[in-house]
Formats: sequence, structure tokens, C-alpha cells
Amino acid sequence: MKKVAVLTSGGDAPGMNAAIRAVVRTGIYRDMQVFGVSHGFEGLIAGQLTKMSLGSVADIIHRGGTVLKTSRSQAFMTDEGRRAAFENLHNKGIGNLVVIGGNGSIKGAYEFSKLGINSIAIPATIDNDIVYTKSIGFDTAVNTALEAINRIRDTATSHGRIFIIEVMGRDCGEIALTAGVAGGAESILIPEIEPDLKQVIEKIEMGIDRGKLHSIIIVAEGVYPVMELKDFIQKNTGHETRVSILGHMQRGGMPTAVDRILASCMGKAAVDYIAEGRSNAMMAGYDIRIRPVPLQEIIRGSKTLELDLFEIARILAR
Ligand code: F6P
Repeated sequence: MKKVAVLTSGGDAPGMNAAIRAVVRTGIYRDMQVFGVSHGFEGLIAGQLTKMSLGSVADIIHRGGTVLKTSRSQAFMTDEGRRAAFENLHNKGIGNLVVIGGNGSIKGAYEFSKLGINSIAIPATIDNDIVYTKSIGFDTAVNTALEAINRIRDTATSHGRIFIIEVMGRDCGEIALTAGVAGGAESILIPEIEPDLKQVIEKIEMGIDRGKLHSIIIVAEGVYPVMELKDFIQKNTGHETRVSILGHMQRGGMPTAVDRILASCMGKAAVDYIAEGRSNAMMAGYDIRIRPVPLQEIIRGSKTLELDLFEIARILAR
């Protein structure tokens, strides 16, 4: 009988629970023994494994966060940490590990595979910055940000104010770009493109010239200090400017149908792949068609943002 462990790692993402559920239920359907690991790689090092049943993943498909809990493990980056984790799986005769997480977690899975544990990754991060795939959690995060933008637009138009809205995405502007285009933002600042503050001011002035007193500027986290940007805009336009930082609210909440379906398909594909006797890959895809990509290729690749959308935003926001 094949034995599989599953864990979630790194920043949580809505839809992780749907992926856990799919791994556990497909595993049991395929006569495997499935173990849930608590608190990501930290829990794997500490030997926190529990045998899962059909019932242990009941009533979680609609819930945000991760029922298995998560961590950003420093210890797993060391040889000793990975060795301890290996022993905990090896002692129980578990030869397969499914890691649900972002780029750092996939790198961890790849390093772990070198010790001889079949390591399978499922991409989950709100940032959507993993190569060859859409990530579980991105769709929900964008919709959460979009809802906030819509609400802020109401008050911005009522008061004729400029709003700077900071969204998440440390090194990747995909949430900012997608939510910004969908929310009709006047300017979008992302890490992939050098911020052009002159253009931000021009856009605001163009709006004022045609009688529009409000403006929405979306800034990806870390691109520009938002309080400095506020002072700069206020000084250069003479218009009242407010800042709203959305922060971790983008990580929580009920996953959208898109994220639940993606997570269900990827979770099932991961276990099918293990059942076929295949190894060390990430389950990649954009919809219900999932394909395996070797972990090595994922580690070597780096995602480039589709900048066509930036051009669309530039033309449409006037
Ligand atoms: O990786 C997802 C993410 O939410 C990034 O967008 C953000 O920069 C980071 O995690 C925040 O991490 P933490 O929750 O550890 O502060």
C-alpha cells in the first residue's frame, strides 16, 4: 500500500483546503494511506503527522486558510532539518510527500526529493508568481482586492479624493495589475516596471481637466513607500489624498469557485501521478487540464508578467 503525506507551507492561500481535501480523498479512493502534516515543514521536522480519513477533510472546501496550518521554516533550509524530516517519513514507511505552497516551498520540495522522498508540489500562493501555472489563491485574492477597490471608489467619488491603495505581492505585480485593470484604476505601480510618478500626476490632472475629481492609484507592496507617494501627490496636485493598505485581508476568506476547482483538479492530479509511479514534479495548469512539470524546471524558471494588460490599463484609464 502506497503512503502519502501532505502539508501546506509558506503564506497561506484560499483554496489550500480544497487541495488538501482532493489529495486525501483521491488517495483513499486509490487505496493509499494518507497522512496530514501540521505546520508545514516545521511540523515535518517535529514529526507532527496524523493519519487522515474521508471525514478529516469534511466541511473544509469552502474555508480560507489551511486546516493543516502552515509555517515559513528556516530549519528546513538546513541539511539537519531536512534529514530529521526524512527520518520521520522513512520511519513510518512514507515514500511520497505532497507540498502545497509557493516558490520557496517548491524549492524545499525539490531539495527534499534529493534525499529519496518522492516530492510532488501543488502551486498555491496569492502572488501567482510560479512558472507554467496559475496558482491556487490568486483568483480569490484578486477578487478580494477588487471588492475593496470598488468600496473605496464609492467614497473617493463622493469626496472627490485621490486614493492610493496598496495591495500584496512582494516581488510580483500580478494582483496589482489584475485588480487595477478590473477596478478601473487611473494608475498602477508594479515592481516589474520602473514607477513613473510624472505620469501618475499627468493622469490625475487629465482627470481634473475633464471634471473628474477622484482618482484610484494601485500600488503593489514594496514598489514605493505609500506615505511618501501620498505627500508627493498632494503637493503636486493640491488634492486631498488618502492611503489604504489592504494587507493580509487579501490572504483570507472563502475561496472562489475558480480556486476550488483548480485546487481539486491539482490535488487529484498529484495523487494520480503518484499512483502511476511517477516522481518529483509540480502539477501545473490554468483550468481543469493539469500537467506535470519536473521540479527542476520550476526551480530554474522565473515567471514574467504578461505586460499587455499594463498597456490596456494605460490606454483605458483616462
Ligand atoms: O506570498 C504571499 C504574500 O502574501 C506576499 O504577497 C507578501 O509579500 C507576503 O506573503 C507576506 O508575508 P507574511 O505573511 O509572512 O508577512
